[in-house]
Amino acid sequence: MPIVEGRIWIDGCFDFAHHGHAGAMLQARQEGTELYVGVHSDEEILKNKGPVVMKLPERVIAVEGCRWCTKVVPDAPYVTDPLVMDQYGCKYVVHGDDITTDADGKDCYQICKDLGRFIVVKRTPNISTTDLVGRMLDINSHHHQGQISLNHPITDIKERVQSYASDPSGRDSYAGVYFNIEGSSTLHEFVSPKNEYQRVVLVVGEFDLFHPGHIKFLQEAQKYAHSNGAKVIVGIYDDATAKYANYPIMNLVERSLCVLQSKYIDGLVIGAAKILAAAFLDKIPGDVIKVVVDASDPPSKVQSLDQTLVHKLSGYEYSDMSTSTIVNRVLDNRAEYEERQRKKGWKSELEQQLKQETSSLQ
Ligand code: CTP
Repeated sequence: MPIVEGRIWIDGCFDFAHHGHAGAMLQARQEGTELYVGVHSDEEILKNKGPVVMKLPERVIAVEGCRWCTKVVPDAPYVTDPLVMDQYGCKYVVHGDDITTDADGKDCYQICKDLGRFIVVKRTPNISTTDLVGRMLDINSHHHQGQISLNHPITDIKERVQSYASDPSGRDSYAGVYFNIEGSSTLHEFVSPKNEYQRVVLVVGEFDLFHPGHIKFLQEAQKYAHSNGAKVIVGIYDDATAKYANYPIMNLVERSLCVLQSKYIDGLVIGAAKILAAAFLDKIPGDVIKVVVDASDPPSKVQSLDQTLVHKLSGYEYSDMSTSTIVNRVLDNRAEYEERQRKKGWKSELEQQLKQETSSLQ
């Protein structure tokens, strides 16, 4: 296939649908007009980095659900191959500003760098698969951030929130983002939506470790909303509402950004009420025509609502997956994942060294 002007390639493991991966895809998309995302196989990752937590089909669902991804290419080679990029018509590959090495300690992007086909973007600080696995293994709540307020840490990253609220081009505004502050009768608008909401389907939840169960649920909710001429607004519980032990594994900022990057949503309320009542629905911009819940949600979640407003979803793909399904994969194989963490630790020291050597040559 000839090179398609503006078609960009990015590749990686994309283990967990975390907002660092979304940030890389957003910046990659902003470099062009289409984004092809190569996802490595479980076997290649095991050989070069360590065991994955999420299997290839699950990682593909996560990447496919990102608003800035045009097409997913599963089984992409671990060391980026310009011939594979050519096959998909991509001239440039994008990667975050870290060095990624293969099992032999060689830079996975050196060939593309030498050919002038490499673009570097900013890595998102304070998030990685390694961090998240660490939070599952060490039971503490250091990562939690409490209730939503106008001084919440998310207000310090307004620019990031604004960029994650962008449309599929990554350049124009799209989703509205609101805070629900306890005691206030209206929502605080943090990011304005491109268009005002008319008919709205509301979904609320924790969305911890944003996994295929969440993604498929939102996809179904969006199909339902669209068939009723409505948009999907998602409300996220804050850490204070959701917390027990080390759960949520992702804090409010992280969970909000994970949901905000999803192509299956149109708006976000940070700090949603855990038990839905008319007073909360009245605050939502637009006219809430339905509240969509999962069939396994406790009835208490919506019991004080007019039940004709409630629409239940069941039987969608991955509907039986929960956050603890994933945490248990790690805890049930603790020794293997502790070894992964150790290996990642010394590998990242090598990668740091390589990065310093490369920058001193420039
Ligand atoms: N990335 C990023 N910010 C992060 C984590 C990853 O920008 N906090 C980028 C990487 O630089 C890469 C893409 O996301 O361009 C996919 O990363 P991946 O191959 O999954 O691996 P890592 O870089 O090791 O990320 P993680 O530790 O989360 O697995």
